[in-house]
Amino acid sequence: GKRYAVFGTPISHSQSPRIHAAFARQTGIELDYVSIEAGHDDFAAKLAASGAQGANVTLPLKEDAFALCRETSERARRAGAVNTLIRDGDGWRGDNTDGLGLVRDLTERHGLDLRERRVLLLGAGGAARGVAPALLDAGISALFVVNRTPERADALADAMGEPGRVHARGWDALPALGEFDLLVNATSATRGGALPPLPMALAGLRSAAVDLSYGEAAVAFLAWARAAGCTHAMDGLGMLVEQAAESFLLWHGVRPETDPVYAALNGQGD
Ligand code: ATR
Repeated sequence: GKRYAVFGTPISHSQSPRIHAAFARQTGIELDYVSIEAGHDDFAAKLAASGAQGANVTLPLKEDAFALCRETSERARRAGAVNTLIRDGDGWRGDNTDGLGLVRDLTERHGLDLRERRVLLLGAGGAARGVAPALLDAGISALFVVNRTPERADALADAMGEPGRVHARGWDALPALGEFDLLVNATSATRGGALPPLPMALAGLRSAAVDLSYGEAAVAFLAWARAAGCTHAMDGLGMLVEQAAESFLLWHGVRPETDPVYAALNGQGD
């Protein structure tokens, strides 16, 4: 079978190899999908040495992946980040399936209607950039991008090119922002340390919250969200499975069924 890989740091707990193996069994496509630890310094060399026909890219390499592509999709350009590499001769084409993955998970799996919703996006790094365009395309009424470093929030908002709908703020503005319909944690704070305190008034009984991380890394934000009254509090496992299905479609021309794979991963935890 052909070889595929996911690159990032840390990578040992990545669920992507299991997800793609499950899709491969389901569709009868033979492939080999491995995880390869790589950072900014050695990513390009390890990618070239891998012999992969396609690759997924996760933290902290999505901007690096974008930079090494000879061609990128429109959604990857809007995000300024690539999570899916497709071999193109001796080079790579880049796409980004993260945003569509998140929107599919929220609307189809969890039954949320995003139209006319007021959305808070915490963080302005690669993860936030990956999902912002798809949230806007889903018809939300307003996107508030809040980041510890306000300049990065400004840059993300500017890149979206919709000053009427997208607003950048610093963390200190949170108490004045009122209640949101959807709160998205796209910071890496819970992976490395503690999230700064969030005012309870950001969420109410009609609010939904999603952390783009999954497993242990999502626990703190989701505990806060439940304490703040959110009815739906979801981690990023559903998004992970949905973005993987979109990558699988790009590589193999077949869209696998995600529900059984999500159920298997969710049941087993971690
Ligand atoms: P990713 O690809 O996960 O977005 P990143 O580009 O390093 O990774 O971005 C990490 C995000 O988490 C940033 O928005 C970062 O805020 P800064 O731009 O101010 O660095 C945010 N973040 C990380 N640790 C944080 C913390 N302890 N408190 C608040 N925000 C944090």
